[in-house]
Amino acid sequence: MTDLRPKRLLGKVVVVTGAARGQGAAEAEALTREGARVIATDIEPADGCRRLDVTSDEQWAELAAELRESYGRVHGLVNNAGITWRARLGEVRPEDFARVHAVNVTGPLLGIQHLAPLMPPGSAVVNVGSSAALTAHYPVAYTASKWALRGLSKTAALELGPRGIRVNTVHPGFIETEMTASAPPAFREANVRETPLGRTGTVDEITPLVVFLLSDEASFLTGAEIPVDGGLTAHGGVKAISDALRPDALRSDV
Ligand code: NAI
Repeated sequence: MTDLRPKRLLGKVVVVTGAARGQGAAEAEALTREGARVIATDIEPADGCRRLDVTSDEQWAELAAELRESYGRVHGLVNNAGITWRARLGEVRPEDFARVHAVNVTGPLLGIQHLAPLMPPGSAVVNVGSSAALTAHYPVAYTASKWALRGLSKTAALELGPRGIRVNTVHPGFIETEMTASAPPAFREANVRETPLGRTGTVDEITPLVVFLLSDEASFLTGAEIPVDGGLTAHGGVKAISDALRPDALRSDV
């Protein structure tokens, strides 16, 4: 059936990083469906993806020059590329800590630095954080990097606001992608136990928010952080207490 709804991103040029798979690929598809001209990028080769290592200042400069030449302006940037490293506090090596920071924090910084000059008023940046950015998640390099990304997002919202450029952050909980598939089964089970909705999420549950934040419907929304995590970060660690004391009467039979 033909979708007759108006396309919300018609004519907007949007760059997505880490778009070869997982959430980035789903975001690129959803943004395209909404009428955006999407430049999907990734460090890994993939169909329809332009190569971009987000840690490379030089590669960002090349991309910005190309976009200036082809379109003259850029209306959206989704800083989605990210890596994890599951060493714990006592074991993590400084070089791994720095490597994770380079992709998860310096990458978004470079993206903003290179593309913001091409952004007219009404443009938007979406940074992909994590529920780890709101909690004491055990992979310390990842957690520290995502907390740092929150700081970058806040400062960018402040700096770019006067130019009419919005910067918001989405914090996914446990989403089924290759990143989470690489975690031990106990990680998945513990996440589900701590998630009030009692399940993991899918990439298609992240994309609607990303579309919305890039669209003019979010025109007064900046500096915000929105968890999409089934309630994981809402209960501050007290779900186990609540579950232990839950009277049967409150359980639903449906
Ligand atoms: P994924 O591992 O499936 O995809 C990440 C993509 O980023 C890959 O295509 C990879 O090649 C690319 N990438 C890695 N290093 C790069 C670099 N230097 N330059 C450019 N691209 C690079 O992971 P997923 O789950 O799709 O993650 C997307 C974002 O969501 C990440 O920022 C991740 O930290 C975040 N996130 C994921 C969660 C999950 O449960 N899957 C939970 C919370 C946050």
